[in-house]
Amino acid sequence: MHLPDFREARTRDKREYKSVVYQLNAEMKNKYHGKTYFIKTYGCQMNEHDSENISALLESIGFMKADSYLDADLVLLNTCSIRENAHNKAFGMLGRLKHLKNEKRDLLIGLCGCMAQEVGVVEEILKDYPFVNFVFGTHNLNELPNILDKAIEENKQQIEVHSREGDLYEGLPVVRANPYKAYVNIIYGCDKFCTYCIVPYTRGRERSRKKEDILKEIDELIHDGYKEVTLLGQNVNAYGKDLYDDYNLGDLLEEIALKDIPRIRFMTSHPWDFTDKMIEVIGKYPNIMPSVHLPVQSGSSRILKLMGRRYTREEYLTLFHKIQDTVPGVSLSTDIIVGFPGESEEDFLETLSLVEECKFDNAFTFIFSQREGTPACKLKDEISTEEKEERLQRLNEIVNHYFLENNQKLIGTSVKVLVEGISEKKGMYYGYSETNKLINFSSDKEIQAGDIVSVEIIEAKTWSLDGRVL
Ligand code: SAH
Ligand code: SF4
Ligand code: F3S
Repeated sequence: MHLPDFREARTRDKREYKSVVYQLNAEMKNKYHGKTYFIKTYGCQMNEHDSENISALLESIGFMKADSYLDADLVLLNTCSIRENAHNKAFGMLGRLKHLKNEKRDLLIGLCGCMAQEVGVVEEILKDYPFVNFVFGTHNLNELPNILDKAIEENKQQIEVHSREGDLYEGLPVVRANPYKAYVNIIYGCDKFCTYCIVPYTRGRERSRKKEDILKEIDELIHDGYKEVTLLGQNVNAYGKDLYDDYNLGDLLEEIALKDIPRIRFMTSHPWDFTDKMIEVIGKYPNIMPSVHLPVQSGSSRILKLMGRRYTREEYLTLFHKIQDTVPGVSLSTDIIVGFPGESEEDFLETLSLVEECKFDNAFTFIFSQREGTPACKLKDEISTEEKEERLQRLNEIVNHYFLENNQKLIGTSVKVLVEGISEKKGMYYGYSETNKLINFSSDKEIQAGDIVSVEIIEAKTWSLDGRVL
């Protein structure tokens, strides 16, 4: 048994890590042939991609995917800790699984992802959730086949969570959810320690993958017919800092852009280490999508300081406009938190005025949620729930207004869309534009998923656009 430890999770040092090539234990191959699994994934793209690796690990030992958790022999929850509601959702699901297990005694239940890294969560599972067969963390996905095997063979709860990141595993098997769009991890962890955020504790220190390994994965994806890669990291702008003296995200993007891949995306970018070279490269290559997610969190420099974001309102705006001026047709999106402890009405109005100035193309808005162990959790939170909800509503009205207004400007223009398929609900084709907008469209011509087509925009909605193929 390995339990998470908060102090260890916070530690940052220059301890060496290696890249290790993953290999499955030969006797585990297909050992559980005929069993079925279902993974419920919460949280961000990083978790979605981890679930693609987890699926492949389970398939390598013989499991097959079930269509619903009700039919599966194994249900695995890949969890998220970012806000309280993500946490509550996973515990709600565990409640449902408890009932299911009363009827199906052999049901296997596992929990992994960011919540597994939380001391309080693991304590609760040990105390009140004896029916959970195994728990593993974000640093040891590679051990899943052995942990699961042990849970079955010994018929005993297994808790295997490491708070210190270990080596980087290359060559983990993967079953990708989409045949044309692929996620590629470029950097793990986060060293920013924004005061409200739990990610630096659940995902460990910033560790970049070697550029050769990333480029090799992308070559394989091109070979397999993928049209779009999204480079993933909690802060992709920090790429390379821990490995190279003189090679960063700008260089990596440029090297990938020179390959025969039609679409490159990256996320997420912390405004703090966005370099001029990066902006220049994004503007220069047509296959780097003109779409930048640049979380601002607040429009008040006073709150930004309390959040530990390391930039002021003015610095954010300067960067925002520099990107807008350098990258033709760029679409900028953001994340905003309302109700951070001590946020006054004036601070909040500064957030609204920043939104008025930036007119974001997309924005994810959240009410501040206290996360156990983070510095902001100790701050006095005097804003009432009603006040926070009211601020969120006022903010959403403004951001939604700009989504629609920006979309309306596209009516009559032509946008390039990577076709995903036909939407059952609408009976129309759908796909995403270069700026990552959802486009529903009709076509007189024969087209297929994976094609990139030009679509004329006819109608604008807040969350999507309608059009027809030119
Ligand atoms: N690494 C990314 C963000 C990952 S988390 C970045 O810094 O850009 C996604 C978003 O969740 C954050 O941008 C933030 O807006 C929100 N978030 C994180 N912690 C939160 C908390 N404690 N309460 C509310 N929202 C939070
Ligand atoms: Fe969290 Fe800040 Fe790191 Fe983003 S940069 S993951 S908000 S600590
Ligand atoms: Fe959630 Fe962990 Fe991602 S906390 S947002 S799943 S890194």
